[in-house]
Amino acid sequence: MVLNLRHRTKVGMRPLQGLRHLIPFASPRHPSAPVSSDRSRCSVEPPNAPEREELLRLVRAFPWWYQRIYLGHGVFTRDAPGSNELLWDHLAPAIPDDLRGASVLDVGSNAGFFAIEMKRRNAGRVLGIETSDEHLRQAVLCNAVWGTDVEFRKLDAHDIESLGETFDIVLFTGILYHLRNPLSVLESVGSICRDAIVVETEVIVDDSRNRVYVHQGPHGNMRITEARRGLMKFIEGEELNGDPTNWWVPDRECVMGMLRTAGFRRFSRGLDLASTRFMIIAAKSDDGLLSLV
Ligand SMILES: C[S@@+](CC[C@H](N)C(=O)[O-])C[C@H]1O[C@@H](n2cnc3c(N)ncnc32)[C@H](O)[C@@H]1O
Repeated sequence: MVLNLRHRTKVGMRPLQGLRHLIPFASPRHPSAPVSSDRSRCSVEPPNAPEREELLRLVRAFPWWYQRIYLGHGVFTRDAPGSNELLWDHLAPAIPDDLRGASVLDVGSNAGFFAIEMKRRNAGRVLGIETSDEHLRQAVLCNAVWGTDVEFRKLDAHDIESLGETFDIVLFTGILYHLRNPLSVLESVGSICRDAIVVETEVIVDDSRNRVYVHQGPHGNMRITEARRGLMKFIEGEELNGDPTNWWVPDRECVMGMLRTAGFRRFSRGLDLASTRFMIIAAKSDDGLLSLV
C-alpha cells in the first residue's frame, strides 16, 4: 500500500487522552488471507501516534484484530498480514487520489481501515457502521491516531435506511455473507447510494459442475431447466469458518444479479482475490467517481 499524503485532510492533533476506555472483550478468530508487500505500509507516520510503548499497550489491550493497520513507530495492529491490505492493494487504483469531498459509508467498518483511507483521500463525510463494540473501539483508536474525523456508529446493516442519509460511495467489503437478508440490505443500500458500491465477498467456487434444476421460463411455458449460475448457498450454524455470523454464500453471477436488482447498472471487471473471494465495483452511471476498469 502506498500511503499518499498529498491529499490527506483534516489531520487533527487531538491528543490520545481518553483512549484507555477502549477495553476489549473476546471475539472469534478468523484466518487472514496472505498479502504482498509490507515495508511500504509504514512509509507515512500518523500524526497523533502516542509513544511506542503506549501504542503497544493500547494495541495489545485487544485480544484480536481482524484488520492490520499501521499506527506509527513501526507498530501495526497485528503481525500477520491482513486481508484488508490485499483488498486495498487491488481497490486503491480504482479510487481517485482526491475524492473531492465525496461522502462515504463503510458497512461493517471493523477497525476502520477503509474508512480512514477514504478520509485520507479527501472524502467529506465518512461514516462507518458496525455491530461489534470491540471493533468500534478499535476504530476509535485508529481514527484518533490518524487524526481523521470518521464517524463510527453502532448500527446493523439491516437498519441502514434508518440513517436517513445518502452517500456517494458505499464500501461493502466482507459483509454480504454476514447478512441474514442480503438482497434486502443491498436494496436498502441501493436506495441511499448515489454513485457506486464496492463489494467484496466470499463466493461459491465457479465450477462447470455447479447446477440446480429449477422450474422457470416465460408465462405459459414453464419447465424444469438447468441453472449453472446465479446461485446462493445457505449457511447453517457454524458451517463456514466456524462462524455463526455467516449466512449466505452467493456465486459471482448472483452478486451481480442482486446488485442489478438494487439499482446498479454499470460494473467493473470482477476480480478474484482468491478462489472464493470476489471483488466488484458497481455504479449507477458511467461517469461516477470510481474507475470501473
Ligand atoms: C469480515 S469483517 C470485514 C471488515 C471490513 N469491511 C473489511 O473488509 O476488512 C465483517 C465485519 O462486519 C461486521 N458485521 C457483521 N455483521 C454485521 C451487520 N449485520 N451489520 C454491520 N456490521 C456487521 C463484523 O463485526 C465485522 O467487523
